Amino acid sequence: MQEQTEKQNDGITYAPPKSAYFWLVGIFAITFAVIYIALVLFVHFVATGEGILGLTEIQALTLYVFVFLFFLVALYIYLVVSRKELLYSLKRLGALMTLFTFVVVVNIVVIAFNPYLICVALAAMLVLPFSKKSDAFVLNAFACLISSFVLIATLDFAEFPAVAFTLLAGMICGAVATYAFPFNMTRIVSILRTFVTGVVTVVVYGVLLSTYKLDFQPFLDNILYIGLSVVGEMFLAAVLVPIVEWVFNLTSDFKLTELINHRAPLIRRLSTEAPGTFNHSLAVANFAEICADAIGEDPYLARACAYYHDVGKLNNVEYFTENQAGYNPHDEILPEVSAEIIRKHTVDGYDLCKQHRIPEEVARITIEHHGTLPIMYFYNKAKSLTDGEVDMDEYRYYGEIPTGKIGAIIMICDSAEAAIRAMDNPTGDKVDKLLAGMIDERLKLGQFDNCAITMKDLTAIRLAIVGAYGGLYHKRIKYNIGRNGINV
Ligand SMILES: [Fe+2]
Ligand SMILES: [Fe+2]
Repeated sequence: MQEQTEKQNDGITYAPPKSAYFWLVGIFAITFAVIYIALVLFVHFVATGEGILGLTEIQALTLYVFVFLFFLVALYIYLVVSRKELLYSLKRLGALMTLFTFVVVVNIVVIAFNPYLICVALAAMLVLPFSKKSDAFVLNAFACLISSFVLIATLDFAEFPAVAFTLLAGMICGAVATYAFPFNMTRIVSILRTFVTGVVTVVVYGVLLSTYKLDFQPFLDNILYIGLSVVGEMFLAAVLVPIVEWVFNLTSDFKLTELINHRAPLIRRLSTEAPGTFNHSLAVANFAEICADAIGEDPYLARACAYYHDVGKLNNVEYFTENQAGYNPHDEILPEVSAEIIRKHTVDGYDLCKQHRIPEEVARITIEHHGTLPIMYFYNKAKSLTDGEVDMDEYRYYGEIPTGKIGAIIMICDSAEAAIRAMDNPTGDKVDKLLAGMIDERLKLGQFDNCAITMKDLTAIRLAIVGAYGGLYHKRIKYNIGRNGINV
């Protein structure tokens, strides 16, 4: 089946989990190598064998190797255990590890000048726009741990407070930068978050340093360095986020805002060339956003995925019901030809997304939103026209089953939207039954076998759609049209 799907996809395949683990090891090896080289250069530059707690240069570097390996193994375990979905987006993982490595290297370099120059929340600020809050917090904590370890090994014990303070400030400021504000949809929230994190950093250092010996002087002595690190991390975050977004073609919150703008090229084409599909996509987006919220996924990513899920229909607009006004071209062609046109919109959509440089996470949904389901209407039509057996595989969508929860959400909301719209008098009970059957059928057909969605998530999605359908499909009160066409 896998082989067949790969062939059907015309060369579009996704990294299977096994090779993903292999690449993950590669990404970590590169991370380790870069950090290690930075350290070697650092030790030569600053310590030259002295002042590293009495260790020789070789002993110190060996110690570094073991400690870094320990940190990286811990990070690897975090990713594999609780962020498995990142294995399907190695580009995103590579970008996150590049940012992480960059922050550690920056900290190693600035330690040479002053320990208080360490950017304690930079990793959180850089990672947050591209990933989950937990990733931002964990990577920030690991960056601070490694930076603190470099401090321990390179400073005299007399300066040990700097190590403890870096760790504490790192944890507190990382948490503020990560959790203090909701999703980052506007530039102003982003600026506000950076500013508040900076202020908190100064306050935390102020409290820590002045309570250490009940003396305010150590804080005043170092305030210039602390201020410089705060301004430095604000500057780096502002400059690097758009660069990383562009280089890795990732979905940051800013990018998502651009994608769902109705003036975005593909969305504009959809609204003018296929208004039926455009309206369907908007309705799916409304459901998808509510569902993503209900199960703790990114609602803006869900909305963007819904906007683009059917762009492949642009290649054959009039063959899709929602764009037809009376005339149905399928009446004049064979069911296998009809099925071919319909099932192709998944791969066509992926190609269009790639041509328009739509990030992979959004583009992938075009392939995943119908999974490998059969197009029963044309399959049954073909069966009714022939005496022999009809091969169901010839009537399956060219697709991959969803690899993430957002993919599963779009799959459910897409079918739900069309089915609820087709209902005569939808009631809560009817919609609930319809969804339960639809989800059950997809489960039985193995459509969710490749994503980490749980039964609890599926129930939350079902209830979210039942709760939302009333608001989205409310019936308008019939107007009485007066003699001059005026509503009365
Ligand atoms: Fe579709
Ligand atoms: Fe659709």
